[in-house]
Amino acid sequence: MTAAEFVVVANRLPVDRVITPDGEEQWRTSPGGLVAALEPMMHTVNGAWVGWPGQADLELAPFEANGIRLIPITLSEDEVAEYYEGFSNDTIWPLYHDVIAPPQYHREWWEAYMAVNRRFAEAAASAVVDGGTVWVHDYQLQLVPEMLRALRPDITIGYFHHIPFPAHGLYSQLPWRDQVLRGLLGADVIGFQRGQDAQSFLAAVRRRLRYEVKGAAVTLPDGRLPLVKAFPISIDTTPYRELSQRPDIQARAAEIRESLGNPRKILLGVDRLDYTKGIRHRIKAFGELLDQGRISVEDVTLVQVASPSRERVDAYVHLRDEIELAVGRINGDHDTMGHTAIRYLHQGFPREEMVALYLAADVMLVTALRDGMNLVAKEYVATRADNRGVLVLSEFTGAADELRQAVRVNPHDIDGVKDAILTAIEMPPAEQGRRMRALRKRVLEHDVAAWSSSFLAELESARRAH
Ligand code: G6P
Repeated sequence: MTAAEFVVVANRLPVDRVITPDGEEQWRTSPGGLVAALEPMMHTVNGAWVGWPGQADLELAPFEANGIRLIPITLSEDEVAEYYEGFSNDTIWPLYHDVIAPPQYHREWWEAYMAVNRRFAEAAASAVVDGGTVWVHDYQLQLVPEMLRALRPDITIGYFHHIPFPAHGLYSQLPWRDQVLRGLLGADVIGFQRGQDAQSFLAAVRRRLRYEVKGAAVTLPDGRLPLVKAFPISIDTTPYRELSQRPDIQARAAEIRESLGNPRKILLGVDRLDYTKGIRHRIKAFGELLDQGRISVEDVTLVQVASPSRERVDAYVHLRDEIELAVGRINGDHDTMGHTAIRYLHQGFPREEMVALYLAADVMLVTALRDGMNLVAKEYVATRADNRGVLVLSEFTGAADELRQAVRVNPHDIDGVKDAILTAIEMPPAEQGRRMRALRKRVLEHDVAAWSSSFLAELESARRAH
């Protein structure tokens, strides 16, 4: 394969492997925002994408899918358990989300994390042309920038962190805290979701490594000056806007309302089944409103889509049990033959169905306890061309920095969540319109293309300065 000018490195490839009923292998574009964000760019430059195909022990030669050159990384069963489920999702993920679940620190997991990060770095190093650019993504690959720089000092390296970066008091729990900081500082541009994340990272660099920080730049002992800045990520709004205008999808939205017994108001939650999302808090608040008779199932239904995620990690197994117990109890207490309190769906759905659900929902509930951004909030806004609907948004999401006209909540304050739900249910159309127009302006103007071009512009200045 010829070398690429621009290489994306992410834990996952932008395509999912699916086996058709007749045993045929197919690759489908993964629905994630990163693909949509980078796809146009990958087509204009000679680009390649390094990532894991999502299954253990899958050895694949580089191939092309939807016009993007893909370089698959093989992970063994043990590496999936120790690097992906272990260090990435049971150490870094809970630690960086303010220890909502207790992080597990295991030296073998760290060893596996280093070994797999090295494999990604080596693959990127052999894929990129002289003087080319590599963009590394997210917490699974924090050591890649430094490893890659050691292998290829000629290239420009960007890193974007999609999840929060914790305050120093929490970050310092990590037994390998200095190594991770050094890993990230291998990049020329280090991007975070919000200013607060960038500040926490810089504080850790100052306090732990004693490097000088001037404004957004760190001065390294070798004279390099990596730039540390916030670049809030967004969505490609086009498919959401277009799908929301399609008559068949609008008809599907009406059908959804009908099949729920035409309640006066539909509330919607859409999340990966993750303890960071505050699903329990939302369900508790909703259940109390029913218990207290402040709402009734004839009047209001909550639809909760919880897509399966990281199902072999203990914390996720427990969370699922807790949520399903709570949903079962509330439904048992309040359902009638014709109406349900909570329609709970532990499934993922295609984008068409998601847009129909967004259109059917009078109120979108985003009650995350901590979230790097929360793109569901932006997807909901992008579909509301009629300027109707209310977004209830946790102040602990990255999106809360931008989506100021949402009804803001502290998800830990259950009474506050109950009040926010009632405010949203009763909000007059004029007030809904005023807020939604402002939200839409923000989301439509700051879409994912704006995000990637602002990051890449900084990376290009770094390349020129090389
Ligand atoms: C978050 C992370 C992504 C990750 C996604 C899905 O959004 O920031 O890096 O890909 O969750 O999680 P999974 O473990 O299935 O890749």
